[in-house]
Amino acid sequence: MAQAHNDLIALPNAPLWGASPRFSVRWLSNPGHSGGEIRRARMECKAAGPPGSLANPSCRAHFSDVTATEDESLPPMNDQGPAHHAAPATAAVPIYDDSFELQFSPNMLAKLETRRSVPMRAFDPMPIPPEHLERILKIAARSPDHGRLAPWRFIVIEGEARQLSGQRFDALYAARNPGLDDSKRDMWTLYMMRAPVTVVVVSRPDPTSRIPEWDQILGSGAVGMNLILAASAHGYATQWLLKWPGRDPEAAAILGVQAGERVAGFIHLGRQTERPADRARPDLNAIVTHWAG
Ligand SMILES: Cc1cc2nc3c(=O)[nH]c(=O)nc-3n(C[C@H](O)[C@H](O)[C@H](O)COP(=O)(O)O)c2cc1C
Repeated sequence: MAQAHNDLIALPNAPLWGASPRFSVRWLSNPGHSGGEIRRARMECKAAGPPGSLANPSCRAHFSDVTATEDESLPPMNDQGPAHHAAPATAAVPIYDDSFELQFSPNMLAKLETRRSVPMRAFDPMPIPPEHLERILKIAARSPDHGRLAPWRFIVIEGEARQLSGQRFDALYAARNPGLDDSKRDMWTLYMMRAPVTVVVVSRPDPTSRIPEWDQILGSGAVGMNLILAASAHGYATQWLLKWPGRDPEAAAILGVQAGERVAGFIHLGRQTERPADRARPDLNAIVTHWAG
């Protein structure tokens, strides 16, 4: 299974299989097929119907593991079938509708099953396009939120603000630690410069609300995780850290974190230059019980 996941990671953005990433995922995860078989199957599927369509019997034959789990009463997951291409460019072609959210998504599962943090030292400094960042933040804010209070907010640090924030952290850190070794005098600047974008997730529970504070604080964790997954969906690496600048109220105040607010995490985003080894994951036997009365 681990090998199959590595294959998925190696996939270029353009799916192997026409317009349907889900089938390319399944195909590559099956190491028993030769290149010739893949090409032949491709031709058959192309001739018989829309690429990747479950209405295409050739594809069914080749991807029985997927067809067994898909709900065919739902529209196809990919948005690039013939109907889509035939539509006039100006027509409103819905790419996503509500049923999309309910569909089986091998791509999403593969992302979820392979995501891991990437240390910032392996980040490329190239900036992240603003439209990607905006989309990532929108998705992050689309998180479960008891009471719809949005008891959190984001502080984005990018570009020159990275150095500025780091220098201010360094100054405060030096003031706090009089005998600080020279080698550590710019450590927070170096830290903030490592990622092209840092999103500080700030928890800001409303004490006057009837919603329990605990629920509001937990919401920040959900937002942070959603942010990470949205970044992952864009192909970015992330690392969620909560170091001194986030824990010390005076340091956090440099970023505008106020009394009554608390930093939930510095979530660093960037393109990864290397793929770190995964860590051991919890054994379900140790963390899952089934309550039966
Ligand atoms: C709230 C929070 C704070 C964290 N702070 C740190 C930290 O300061 N230093 C650190 O090494 N890892 C920290 N981590 C853990 C890493 O972000 C990361 O999740 C972990 O090391 C690798 O696990 P992953 O590959 O599943 O993401 C923190 C995680 C969370 C959720």
